[in-house]
Amino acid sequence: MSRKNEVEERYRKLEDADIEVWKTKIRTIAHAPWRQTYHIQPPIGRLGDPNGFSFFHNQWHLFHQWSPLSPTIGLAYWRHLVSQDLINWKDMGISIRPDCPYDSHGAYSGSALTIGDKLTILYTGNVRDNENNRHAYQIRADYRDGEPVDKFSKPVIFRQPRGYTAHFRDPKMWKAADGSYYLVIGAQTNDEEGTSLIYRSPDAGEWHCVGRLNPFDKKIGYMWECPNLFWLNEKPVFLFCPQGLDKSLCHYQNVYPSAYVVGQHLDLKTMRFNPVNPEIHLVDKGFDFYAPQVVSNADRTVLVGWMGVPEVNYPTEKYGWSGCLTLPRELKLSGGKLLQQPVDELKDLRGFRRPVSGQMEEPGALSILPVPGEPAFELDLTLTGTGMTTLNLREDRKQNKKLRIRLNFENGLIEVDRRNSGVLFGEKFGTKRYAHFSSGKVRLHIFIDQSSFELFVDDGSSVLSGRFFPDGEQVETSVVNESGTVIYSGNHWNLKNVSE
Ligand code: FRU
Repeated sequence: MSRKNEVEERYRKLEDADIEVWKTKIRTIAHAPWRQTYHIQPPIGRLGDPNGFSFFHNQWHLFHQWSPLSPTIGLAYWRHLVSQDLINWKDMGISIRPDCPYDSHGAYSGSALTIGDKLTILYTGNVRDNENNRHAYQIRADYRDGEPVDKFSKPVIFRQPRGYTAHFRDPKMWKAADGSYYLVIGAQTNDEEGTSLIYRSPDAGEWHCVGRLNPFDKKIGYMWECPNLFWLNEKPVFLFCPQGLDKSLCHYQNVYPSAYVVGQHLDLKTMRFNPVNPEIHLVDKGFDFYAPQVVSNADRTVLVGWMGVPEVNYPTEKYGWSGCLTLPRELKLSGGKLLQQPVDELKDLRGFRRPVSGQMEEPGALSILPVPGEPAFELDLTLTGTGMTTLNLREDRKQNKKLRIRLNFENGLIEVDRRNSGVLFGEKFGTKRYAHFSSGKVRLHIFIDQSSFELFVDDGSSVLSGRFFPDGEQVETSVVNESGTVIYSGNHWNLKNVSE
């Protein structure tokens, strides 16, 4: 079959003859186990990177990588969602189809920006030729309210510049103070070094490469995916996914990290990112987090990530779906590091508030929190203590199942262990993740959905996110004083179901 026919065939399968079968499957999946109740998830198939996160005509627009035909890796489309409040999302369905010769093997990640009366999208068209060689094209598509996306027939960036391989993808645009447009894009040199390139355009139509942005003077992995560049307190923040990053430069356990560095100043003429060799931090220290996208709008900067990672199979795949997005997080800069807070709008999800508090001095003392066993909740607890304390979430004591958070008040170490949290998966990358707090006292702000947790430590100085798939009667929340003493107090809320 020729490439064109192959594409047409896939397109037909999705939209034409099988549409009734497909709709029935979607209805079934809506009742599958572990469906989330307030996170963005796919109606069917696989959800990947957030794309095109933007604010246009007074609405938030969020797209994501979507393989509607397969819950594991498959042909990538873009699905489109819109929202007034970052919580209630309206599903606008498929937005970009891989249906032209420049994106025949996937409409890969990209970004969106309001330009005039349009939302201008730029994404990577992934193509494999008959010898399976990779080709990358950057394609523009314009969206006007209520109309189908208007894809340009020719790429606006035709392949990578000389000296770089076809691992050239994920353009992220912004508008500069002088009115011109810029983008940063993930790249790989012919020597297999990861890096990023900057392009400039007067009108987001014709783009010219103006340099290489590399805040380091050493090799940082073999390919950088999904770069973002934005400013907080006038300081440049470069956020990227360096595949193959040396663990001695930044410790991580996931297959690929999602990291950031903060500079003092970025000169886009010389591409000097001061300081050179800034410290590399993980964006999220949890299990399932990758390819985040950041939008700066008026006075806020908001991040959404994919609560998933490549090369891990998720237990929902056998039910026809996988992947979800993180909650939106507002970003601030403090002491040269990112602070990430769940956006304020999430308070609208709150149902009944239950204050919780207690004090334990006996080693081994157990306190079961007087909260309902519903699977979607928010818990905001401050704990002060000595020795060790464990917080168990979604616990079934009989079966010893729980998502376990252990606090060491002596050295300020938090350990999140999902080994016994339900169906085991992804364990080859370890079942524990760690973060730090200043010893003695810690605030744990936790969002639990049917199959995910997001833990914001100390006002978002660290965040740990992950999926977990309870398979027992896991309805309790408990605090165990393992040694020393602990005093805890805070609030618990049930959260509304806002899934479609
Ligand atoms: C990151 C990524 C991107 C690419 C997309 C394809 O997860 O590999 O680099 O554009 O996913 O789905």
